Amino acid sequence: MERIQSALAKARDARERKMKGATSGGAGQAETGPWADLPGLTLNPKVLERNRVVAMHPNQNSASFDLMRTNLIRALRSNGWSRVAITSPTQGCGKSTVAVNLAFSLARMADTRVLLLDLDLRHPSLQTILGVEPDQNFAGMLASGTVDLSQIRRCAPNLAVGLNSKPVESPAELLSAARTADMVDEIEARLRPDVILFDMSPMLANDDAISFLDQVDCALMVAAADETTVTEVDRCGKDLAKRTQVLGVVLNKCRFMEQEEARVYPE
Ligand SMILES: Nc1ncnc2c1ncn2[C@@H]1O[C@H](COP(=O)(O)OP(=O)(O)OP(=O)(O)O)[C@@H](O)[C@H]1O
Ligand SMILES: [Mg+2]
Repeated sequence: MERIQSALAKARDARERKMKGATSGGAGQAETGPWADLPGLTLNPKVLERNRVVAMHPNQNSASFDLMRTNLIRALRSNGWSRVAITSPTQGCGKSTVAVNLAFSLARMADTRVLLLDLDLRHPSLQTILGVEPDQNFAGMLASGTVDLSQIRRCAPNLAVGLNSKPVESPAELLSAARTADMVDEIEARLRPDVILFDMSPMLANDDAISFLDQVDCALMVAAADETTVTEVDRCGKDLAKRTQVLGVVLNKCRFMEQEEARVYPE
C-alpha cells in the first residue's frame, strides 16, 4: 500500500512540475489563449432539463450539487489536485448525470474553469445528456495520438467538454496507453482548467475505468439508492482505493429524500 501511495505521489509531483513549466493563464483572466479559442457549443435548456441537468443556474434543485462542489473544490485546493474520476460500481447509477450537474455547478464559480471529459468509451452518453449534434470525437482524437483542441467544445464561459458520438472498440487499451496519459497532460497544460471531471465506466463491469485511474488525483463514487448493494459499494471502494484517493460516495436516485437532504458522504 505504501508503495502505491508513493507511486501516486510521484506521478502527481511530475504533473505539477510539468504544469509549472506551462504557459500562464487561468480563470478570471482576460479572454485570450487556448480556452478563449475553443469552439462553442450551444445547449438547449429544455433538453437539459429533460435529462435531469438542473445545475446550470442556482436554484433549489441545484443546491445539492452546489454543496457537493463546495466540498469537492475544498478537497482539491487543499491537496493541490485537479483531476476527478466519477464512477460507480455498476451501470446506470447516474454518474454521467451527476458529472454534468457537478460540472455546471463548479463552472458557475467565477474563478473556476472546468473541463468535463467523456471517458466512458464503451457507453458514451454525455453527448446525449447535453443534447448536442452527433459529430463529437474526443476519443478519436485521443486514439490519433495528436492533441486537437477543436474536439473540446466550450458550452459555458467556464465549462468545456470533450464528447463522443460513438463507442471505442478497445477502451481499456486506449485508456491505459502512455500516449493517452501524455495527451491528457498536454490538454491540461494548454487549457489550464482548475478542475477536470472524467466521466468513467462502471468499476465492476470491466477494466476500463481501472485502466485510467493512475491519471487522476481522486475519485467520486456514485451509488444508486435501492439499486446498488452494500457489497458493490464495498468492492468498488476497495478497488478505487488501491489506485487513487476516494473522496466520497454520492448517493443518487434517493426517492424518499428531500432535495436539500442529499449529501456527499465522505469515506
Ligand atoms: N437522481 C436521479 N433520479 C432519477 N433518475 C435519475 C437520477 N440520476 C440519473 N437518473 C436517470 O438514470 C439513468 C442513468 O443515468 P446516467 O446515464 O447518468 O447513469 P450512468 O451511471 O452514467 O449510466 P452508464 O453506466 O450507462 O453510463 C438516466 O435515465 C438518468 O436520467
Ligand atoms: Mg454514463
